[in-house]
Amino acid sequence: MEVFSQDPLMILPIVKYGHPVLRQRGRPIDVFDQSLEDLVDAMLDTMYDADGVGLAAQQIGKALQLTVVDVSQSDDRPSSMKVNNEPVDLQEYMPLVLVNPLIDQPSSTVSGPEGCLSFPEIYADIDRPEQVRVRAQDHKGNPVEFVCDGLLAKAIQHEVDHLNGILFIDRMSTRDKDRWRPQLESLQDQTKQALKAD
Ligand code: NI
Repeated sequence: MEVFSQDPLMILPIVKYGHPVLRQRGRPIDVFDQSLEDLVDAMLDTMYDADGVGLAAQQIGKALQLTVVDVSQSDDRPSSMKVNNEPVDLQEYMPLVLVNPLIDQPSSTVSGPEGCLSFPEIYADIDRPEQVRVRAQDHKGNPVEFVCDGLLAKAIQHEVDHLNGILFIDRMSTRDKDRWRPQLESLQDQTKQALKAD
């Protein structure tokens, strides 16, 4: 960490595949206090530092129903968002802090490329519903509800999976998973070795 930074960033280590916390279902959050705000700030700093579009609490080692998402820099992969059935300017809603999120998936599925900060250098096309309705709370506990599609819908589904201990490799085609198997096994081994050394 930079000692003389004007705006001290709080970059947390990102948990990699092989760490058991990634398989834990997040606990619901019912206390909306300063420590939650500090955690959210640290998760945002960590996500931006890693050039990610989403980060789940499990990825910084905490099994909680909490995720942050920001797709505002992804111009090449558009998203749209509706609040109360009206299209809204997505930029005004980013970053999204989703506490205790629930999603409905009322649409047909589309395939699109995904990666994950817990799986460096591993990518695959994943099928997911094209559009989702999201109900959650923000970092203050206020209700949040919207419908979205595009990259935002993909990112939120990927993150909500994390909150339930589900990883994108669970949704990969058998062929992709076979293709990535050596990298997955080596990543898992590295993570387990590092945990043993701690
Ligand atoms: Ni991920």
